[in-house]
Amino acid sequence: MSELHLSLPDALEPRTTDLLHEYENRVKAIGGVYSRHPQALSECLQHARLILENFLAELRGKAFSLDDEEASFSTRIGSYRAKQGASKLDCLRATELLFEMIATAAAQACNGSRISTDELINALLVAHRVVWTRANAASIIYDSILLKRVHELDMSERRRLAREIHDRIGNSLSLAQRNLELHEFYVNDGSELAGKAIGQVQSALLETAATVRHLISDLRLPRHGAALESSLKAFAAASESNTKLDLTVSGMEAWAPPEYLEEIFLVLREALRNVFTHAKATRVTVRVDIEPDDIHAVVRDNGVGIAPERLAELTRSQRQGITGMIERTQLLQGDLRMTSQLGRWTMMELWVPVPDWSADDE
Ligand SMILES: Nc1ncnc2c1ncn2[C@@H]1O[C@H](COP(=O)(O)OP(=O)(O)O)[C@@H](O)[C@H]1O
Ligand SMILES: [Mg+2]
Repeated sequence: MSELHLSLPDALEPRTTDLLHEYENRVKAIGGVYSRHPQALSECLQHARLILENFLAELRGKAFSLDDEEASFSTRIGSYRAKQGASKLDCLRATELLFEMIATAAAQACNGSRISTDELINALLVAHRVVWTRANAASIIYDSILLKRVHELDMSERRRLAREIHDRIGNSLSLAQRNLELHEFYVNDGSELAGKAIGQVQSALLETAATVRHLISDLRLPRHGAALESSLKAFAAASESNTKLDLTVSGMEAWAPPEYLEEIFLVLREALRNVFTHAKATRVTVRVDIEPDDIHAVVRDNGVGIAPERLAELTRSQRQGITGMIERTQLLQGDLRMTSQLGRWTMMELWVPVPDWSADDE
């Protein structure tokens, strides 16, 4: 044979090392978890290597299927990414990039060769199927881990409320009761301390009423039709903070499914709660822009700020506040970023894509 006719997999195989090397650089450039966690980057490359192997094997006649054993690596990747707090968008970008690079390499291999267009189209379809089947397996487990975490968060919020009811309401009610007994005792005794005891009863009851108002505002969610704006205002009012709230909501709430608004409300409420409890700010600005395709929100305060090392540590930690906000957002396929300048300001930015949805679909 004078002319060498390479099949597409044979032409691609020698290029895989270079391809993976280039892929590594491009994934690094995505940033996020891939620049934070060397382990995330190396697992992503391992996944890409496996995908390439599956792809080349199928081109050589070994059909790709994701049986339990085959799926396990993709599943592990999805679970690691969820635990590392990776943004789903970043993972999707890495997947898209891999497909794009395989497709480009395949097209280049065909250029000037005898590989037919049909063969190339078939290879592109195979690449697409292998890449997205594995990415999908990773994504299913990623979502289920986040769902579980958000469920745990909701449960622990309930436990927190139960604790508050027990500690704070229980406390002031028993204080009121003790003072009523004292009052009775002093009255029988003809003591002038009776008036003081009644005063104590009154302040204990006032405190109980304030706590109840507080806890009810914690329980309230913006229900279908109830505006995000008024719910956030009600929360801020019940918090009785000295920080002035400047809130604007633009767009139509009917553009987003109510569950989305509910989750976004929970995230914004936690951001506000943090401002009220930690920031010592005089002002907090909240801006929510609801568009037909996405929701963008910013909470910015002029408070004490957070040091960069601490902020990096907080977004990775297992605390419930900030990590909970990130997890809720990721479950909606969105992204949440926190930035701050120590001594000056803290800003939380949230972006969530809104699925095709209409209020009359129900
Ligand atoms: N707006 C803010 N300004 C200053 N510090 C903040 C702000 N938001 C959060 N923090 C800091 O981040 C920490 C973690 O917040 P979070 O995860 O909500 O946990 P928690 O509120 O239970 O402490 C807070 O303890 C606080 O030190
Ligand atoms: Mg908090």
